[in-house]
Amino acid sequence: QEIKNYDEKLAVAKKLAALAKDGDIIGFGSGSTSYLAILELGKRVKNGLKIIAIPTSHEVSLLCAALKIPTLSTNAAKPDWCFDGADEVDSNSWIIKGRGGAMFNEKLTMSLSKKVYILVDNSKIVKKLGTNFPIPVECVRASLLHVKENLLKLGAESVAVRLAGKAKDGPIITEHGNIIIDAKFNKIGKTLEKEIKSITGVIESGLFIGYNIELIKA
Ligand code: A5P
Repeated sequence: QEIKNYDEKLAVAKKLAALAKDGDIIGFGSGSTSYLAILELGKRVKNGLKIIAIPTSHEVSLLCAALKIPTLSTNAAKPDWCFDGADEVDSNSWIIKGRGGAMFNEKLTMSLSKKVYILVDNSKIVKKLGTNFPIPVECVRASLLHVKENLLKLGAESVAVRLAGKAKDGPIITEHGNIIIDAKFNKIGKTLEKEIKSITGVIESGLFIGYNIELIKA
């Protein structure tokens, strides 16, 4: 698959990979920028670097296996630090993630990590959060109607179940067996993440407000 903004993503991937030290337990994010960072880390592992990964998706687990990077689960260990990509970031370092549908594991890993690096190429930096991406909301299938109604009450302009596209008829089913509603918000305030999370049936959203992160830019 073609990677958009490849050169910038590769530049941030290399910066990130240079930070790893022997003995680090590292949360590995998902998406194409994280993929490039993992390939760079894989090269260092091949040259003797000793790290353990905590993957945020099946795809990343498989990549770690291919690169011979040992892994642990979020129930077995906490990452010393983690890295991940983003769909949008604003000047407050508020983020939208989850284009790849892995935001539950990504938020969990981020919450468990002492230090969080977010890898962004220039296309990710926006003046206003929500400019190019909706907020993905993972919810239990039986709660679809309820969650949609309540997202609209919170001010969503539109809500749409994410479809699998060419791969399969019907909705995308997440790694946890749930569906994703993409909710387009024009106005995103600082309480919105908590308000979305408090709707019955919502597992997590891809909105990250007030997390202590360090951006790595191209
Ligand atoms: C995966 O679910 C996402 O949160 C990605 O981290 C995010 O969509 C960024 O993806 P790219 O690195 O592919 O742009």
